[in-house]
Amino acid sequence: MYLGIDLGTSAVKTVLVDDAQRVIASESRSLATVSPQPGYSEQDPAQWIDATFATLDALKASHADALAQVAGIGLSGQMHGATLLDASLRPLRPCILWNDGRSAAECRVLEQRWPALREVTGNKAMPGFTAPKLLWIATHEPEIFAATKLVLLPKAYLRLVLSGEAVEDVSDASGSLWLDVARRDWSDAALAASGLSREHMPRLVEGCAPATTLRSELARRWGMIRQPVIAGGAGDNPAGAIGIGATRPGAAFVSLGTSGALMVPTDRIAANPDRVVHTFCHAIPGMWIQAGAILSAASCLAWLARLFGATEAELLAPLGARPQAPSPVSFLPYLAGERTPHDDPVARGMLDGLSHGTDRAAIVQAVLEGVAFALADCRDALADAGIGIAEADVIGGGSRSTFWLLVLANVLSIPIHRFAGGETGAAFGAARLGRLAVTGEAIGDVCMQPQRIETFEPDAALVDAYAERLPAWRDLYRPRH
Ligand code: XUL
Repeated sequence: MYLGIDLGTSAVKTVLVDDAQRVIASESRSLATVSPQPGYSEQDPAQWIDATFATLDALKASHADALAQVAGIGLSGQMHGATLLDASLRPLRPCILWNDGRSAAECRVLEQRWPALREVTGNKAMPGFTAPKLLWIATHEPEIFAATKLVLLPKAYLRLVLSGEAVEDVSDASGSLWLDVARRDWSDAALAASGLSREHMPRLVEGCAPATTLRSELARRWGMIRQPVIAGGAGDNPAGAIGIGATRPGAAFVSLGTSGALMVPTDRIAANPDRVVHTFCHAIPGMWIQAGAILSAASCLAWLARLFGATEAELLAPLGARPQAPSPVSFLPYLAGERTPHDDPVARGMLDGLSHGTDRAAIVQAVLEGVAFALADCRDALADAGIGIAEADVIGGGSRSTFWLLVLANVLSIPIHRFAGGETGAAFGAARLGRLAVTGEAIGDVCMQPQRIETFEPDAALVDAYAERLPAWRDLYRPRH
């Protein structure tokens, strides 16, 4: 029996997976994000712990016998967040999250201070990443910077509480700008450019390797007969890849979660930081993930649902089964700024082409299309790094909408495949990593591809119509600075 815990942005989700890889129970608890100033995004690490413990306490209440048998635990997490701990390993302030845009000036300072940054880390310095957040803290909260003894990503802080040990996996560490992605180790030069050293960092392991074990008192609390191994785990996107068996070079997939991404596993680094392609180590040795990342995907639909006072299902129902033509309205999905391809934390969303005749359905369709166009920008940035995509799987909550997947297939002009249970990705992937860390089985024997239940094929007329619209959609973006 294995546990996968995904510390996401909107919730902690915990799944209990048996030896036949069936999800036998799942619990989730939501998380709140605060924005103390426009463009800021923070969470109190204490709520990650409370939410995780609540999911495990609930599993103990409903599935005590299965929970007792857990041998391995895998963690997945929202990437990039800066959790700063003092000498007693207590958080010094709320965690600054992946979608926080405050540290643009610090990114420029970092790249000037250390010109090899893009070459060694495979990434461009962007406010979402961890390092510039530390520069911001050093300037704006110097007493907190001085008191910082350890810097952890969100799931490493959770692991510290679960195990007593500070350990991180190389996939999540890739989003810090402190990792040498080719060597899969901390870069001393990168750390020095942020005024830090290895002393401030957790120990590193591969995602599928054992990292530590659950504290004995917690194993007792949840009625476990042994102290389970905790695997390295992965950032949420690489964990999602493990969940759908995207472990071979070229197995492209799209994530339609709070954020969105178009990702391709590779067996060599094919970085393109100038076009804002992200380079992450994969959760398995000798592999990497090249990704175009957008900051708002399913969160755009959630925003629209709040605005209209309707559920997402109510918004989608009037659209029917399939798009007939592009919406007359266009939408830029930059509600939280954008990474690929603009790297612009102050970019904002836009609705264009409104008229007296515009109805709610036209706006809803425009929102789905705007996210798909943003993913087309990711596709082009990846193509510029020599990575072509002929088809893609899709994971994340947005994959429940057939209409959205048809829009995506036509905008990207490739077949899009959906899995049964496609929205349970990262936590399930984490459980697989927990299993690999315990059993040492061959990766291919554990990380099988789930059954594809549907394929959405592009339709020539719609592909042309969307291709015609794409340049006009791109023209809507104007840098505001
Ligand atoms: C990836 C990224 C997001 C977060 C939150 O670069 O910032 O996907 O991991 O999900």
